[in-house]
Amino acid sequence: MVKPFLMGSDSAENYLDIGLKILREKGTALDAIEQTCRAVESNPDDHGVGLGGIPNLAGEVTLDASIMCGRTLGAGSVAHIKNYLHVITLARKVMDDSPHVLLVGDGAELFAEYNGFKKTKLLTPYAEEFYNAFKEKRLHELGPEYDQDKGYLREDEQDYDTGTWFNLLEPHMRGTVNVMAMDINQNIATAVTTSGTYLKLPGRVGDSPIIGAGNYCDNRYGAACCTGTGELAIRNGTARAVVAYMKMGMGPTEACEESMKEIQEIVEIPTMNVIAFNRDGETGGASTYREILYYYMDHDSVKVENRKGAWVKK
Ligand code: GLY
Repeated sequence: MVKPFLMGSDSAENYLDIGLKILREKGTALDAIEQTCRAVESNPDDHGVGLGGIPNLAGEVTLDASIMCGRTLGAGSVAHIKNYLHVITLARKVMDDSPHVLLVGDGAELFAEYNGFKKTKLLTPYAEEFYNAFKEKRLHELGPEYDQDKGYLREDEQDYDTGTWFNLLEPHMRGTVNVMAMDINQNIATAVTTSGTYLKLPGRVGDSPIIGAGNYCDNRYGAACCTGTGELAIRNGTARAVVAYMKMGMGPTEACEESMKEIQEIVEIPTMNVIAFNRDGETGGASTYREILYYYMDHDSVKVENRKGAWVKK
């Protein structure tokens, strides 16, 4: 029998003990990952998740999240949420109490209101200052690659050099959080929560709430979750692919590497990460662009363990 454990991506490392306490008390993997994600969502200094997320080009913070149960293959997701903080709990409510998997925008917010969720202002003074600084930073050297996107932008947004801006933002980026666990009953669950790409086009939704792209698990084989450029995980069905590779006999690291190779094949300089574990409790991770660390705690841990994934280079 595998002892209960949980693991997570960057941003989760300081909060895994919350989920571990639940697992140690014989709680469920679903409760452990949900409570861990809620803590990350509440951190205003994390600018890629929940409160304090960096807004989109229209100045709105929009949140996406998903949760999945490996025992039933039940799943719940929400996307483009503007007024509610704990989107992971809202996603769980969709899974537990609705006949659907994915709710978006106004309908999802109506579902939140109906279920008694408290409205929260997500834009913090820091994130607002960031956005205002972005608006003042008008550069006039647009590359032709941006021309096709211009039609989506308001007139006063059309002259931003987003490439330069993203370079300025990079040191501040923490991004999406993945939390995955196995409990004492050997049930697996996975969760992803995010405010998505900084300064994204209004309406953009990434991989985090897309079951099979950013999040997937199955008690029989294992679990996988993604961070990075969500469009790539959507195009490749990355999380589902990694679980399928584990079903076919690959170990978690090999399965993660294989999925990152697929992404390397379609994009010149991809920025994608995936972490995974199998039903035997073996863990792995891979990235297309960096030395990826992920974070692990099990029933006997006294502190968070940093584990290194593979850097898949072209
Ligand atoms: N991976 C998170 C996103 O692209 O929104």
